[in-house]
Amino acid sequence: MSMPQPEGASRTHGGIEPPVGLLAELTHRCPLQCPYCSNPLALVRRSEELSTAEWKRVFDEAAELGVLQLHLSGGEPTARPDLEELIAHARSRELYCNLITAGVGISEARLDALVAAGLEHVQVSIQDVDPEGCDRIAGYPDALRKKLAFARAVRARGLPLTVNAVVHRHNLDRLERMIELALELGADRIEVAHVQYYGWALANRAALLPTRAQLERSLAVVERARRELEGRLVIDFVIPDYYARRPKPCMNGWGRAVITVSPDGRVMPCHAAHVIPGLVFANVRDEPLARIWYESEAFNRFRGTAWMKEPCRSCPRREIDFGGCRCQAMLLAGDPEATDPACELSPEHARILALAEAESQAPPPPFLYRTLAAGRAPREPAPAA
Ligand code: SF4
Ligand code: FES
Repeated sequence: MSMPQPEGASRTHGGIEPPVGLLAELTHRCPLQCPYCSNPLALVRRSEELSTAEWKRVFDEAAELGVLQLHLSGGEPTARPDLEELIAHARSRELYCNLITAGVGISEARLDALVAAGLEHVQVSIQDVDPEGCDRIAGYPDALRKKLAFARAVRARGLPLTVNAVVHRHNLDRLERMIELALELGADRIEVAHVQYYGWALANRAALLPTRAQLERSLAVVERARRELEGRLVIDFVIPDYYARRPKPCMNGWGRAVITVSPDGRVMPCHAAHVIPGLVFANVRDEPLARIWYESEAFNRFRGTAWMKEPCRSCPRREIDFGGCRCQAMLLAGDPEATDPACELSPEHARILALAEAESQAPPPPFLYRTLAAGRAPREPAPAA
């Protein structure tokens, strides 16, 4: 997901800006089973989720802290029957409400209720323009038809729409058609994001990494589409880190713009931060959001640049990309203070590039589907494309 830039923040606390966005992971429950899900392998169960009253208090505290944008996410946020009530409450606190959804199983009446509650923007994921490919990735029957009907219903109600297209070796060659589809649906924006390898996606990396040739073709498609569709469709493009030369400024910097609350109330600088050993995440059930943002060890651990080692410490880009992604540094270099191996100045860069080349050219293994019940246990493996 692209994250908002920290503009408009008005209050600082010891030099720390308040967050602009709250990513509220309302639930890990989801009808889809995408093998690139970035949620943790151990998912939060329904009985552990924050209650309606607890989420309302989180929104109150977020608004007081200075948050402007609320991203309602999951899992699938519409799995929460109290979503309308939560949106209405958030709107009463003047939070801008963006729904990030799979777009299946949502009736028109439910959508009307969400709009009436104050929903302002919708992001819907499209796994593929090919119906079979879409079903196979989503692990859900008739997914594409349902998603398209939902997206059209959103536009029919006048809400702005973003299409989230996660791309990988199985669908990247249809990128042109995905962009055309976003245009046909009347979307304002399409986020074409290569899979980021955390959580379930890391477990499925060998099945998902595209080849360099595929990536290069997709770059050309995006460049051409941006030229041709300027003023009609915004195209965001996140390239796969493994082929990058410089890392992405993950989360626009640790503890800088976005605060994430997991379904069970743990407050994290990003949705994957649990992969970093030794970080303790405070819970909104025990502490106010503002204290967690400004004072907790987890949020201050990688704020700013003082924690950096070389080559980041003396690099002119250190306040542009913040040394890349801390979670990826942990997962690939075994050190959360290391330069993100996506950076070609990282001593690990050549190794991960070689790994990407090798994995992407080998026959893809079957997908390990995301399931709530089974942890890492796969469902019926899908045939390789
Ligand atoms: Fe960014 Fe660090 Fe690489 Fe410089 S060395 S470009 S700060 S990741
Ligand atoms: Fe955690 Fe990038 S996903 S810092």
